[in-house]
Amino acid sequence: MLIHEIQAEIRRLKREKGICILAHAYQSHDIWEVADYVGDSFGLSQKAAESDADTVLMCGVRFMAETVKILSPQKRVILANGEAGCPMAEQISVDLLRSLKEKYPDHTVVSYINTTIQLKTLTDVCVTSSSAVKIVQNIQNDKILFIPDCNLGSWVQKQIPEKQFQFVPGGCPTHLLITPKNVEQARQKHPNVLVLVHPECAEKVVELADYVGSTTQIMDFAKQSQATEFIIGTENSIVQHLQIDCPEKRFYALSKNCVCHNMKMTTLGDVYECVRGIGGEEITLDADTLRNARRSIDEMLRLEKI
Ligand code: 13P
Ligand code: SF4
Repeated sequence: MLIHEIQAEIRRLKREKGICILAHAYQSHDIWEVADYVGDSFGLSQKAAESDADTVLMCGVRFMAETVKILSPQKRVILANGEAGCPMAEQISVDLLRSLKEKYPDHTVVSYINTTIQLKTLTDVCVTSSSAVKIVQNIQNDKILFIPDCNLGSWVQKQIPEKQFQFVPGGCPTHLLITPKNVEQARQKHPNVLVLVHPECAEKVVELADYVGSTTQIMDFAKQSQATEFIIGTENSIVQHLQIDCPEKRFYALSKNCVCHNMKMTTLGDVYECVRGIGGEEITLDADTLRNARRSIDEMLRLEKI
């Protein structure tokens, strides 16, 4: 079967079976084309809260499928490829977080949404890269224990200097592959071209950028800007998506290494198998874990609206 034939079958089957397909922005373009919603972590969690489909198919990584299940425990939630996890989500153990909470009892525990559901059960409020600054600003406590991404955390801290942050070493192994040298070389090769980076990048890379934002924010910025060329410092699928969406502009990868192999695990073939009912992994979690984790997501959605 050709790609467009597989896509047509996926569209037919998802309509017939009432399946909502969510795809993270780092998925490949052939998956974007069959998705009901494409977005960054915050957009996906909002869609998860709104969707009234009985079955949600998540094309992304495990914590994203868990987030859908937390918000919709009554739905069938399928992770399109059960092998796709986020290494950062598992960087901190539950025992370490428990001991940090004992060490900093008066701190509000703020977890990047890229964490396991078990860590979310011990979290006061989750944040995404696009909502983190606003949410931390809205927290009624000046003492913040921020896990697991200290790069995102320090970028948030710079914008809210009045609050005190505690971090633990951790971060996205994909975005950390971008180096300050990459920025220097890209600027030499493409003088006067704007550098747009994700806040998961190393602090020294973020400091050298012209714009910092989540995947969706980077895409929106590039589309709305009057400029015609951009250097993109996030997962390299965004370079391809932008080039397809804006053929009149030019996009360059800041580093050829910035590829998330976990995000790339999901293929159109996986999606096809899932809608046929023979693939993917159904997310099953016990009711207590779901309930305890939900508080941190509900708090994120509440503080985002203030
Ligand atoms: P956003 O989707 O919030 O931009 O985060 C990027 C990421 O690394 C997701 O795993
Ligand atoms: Fe995790 Fe980084 Fe991949 Fe996102 S890009 S899923 S944070 S490893």
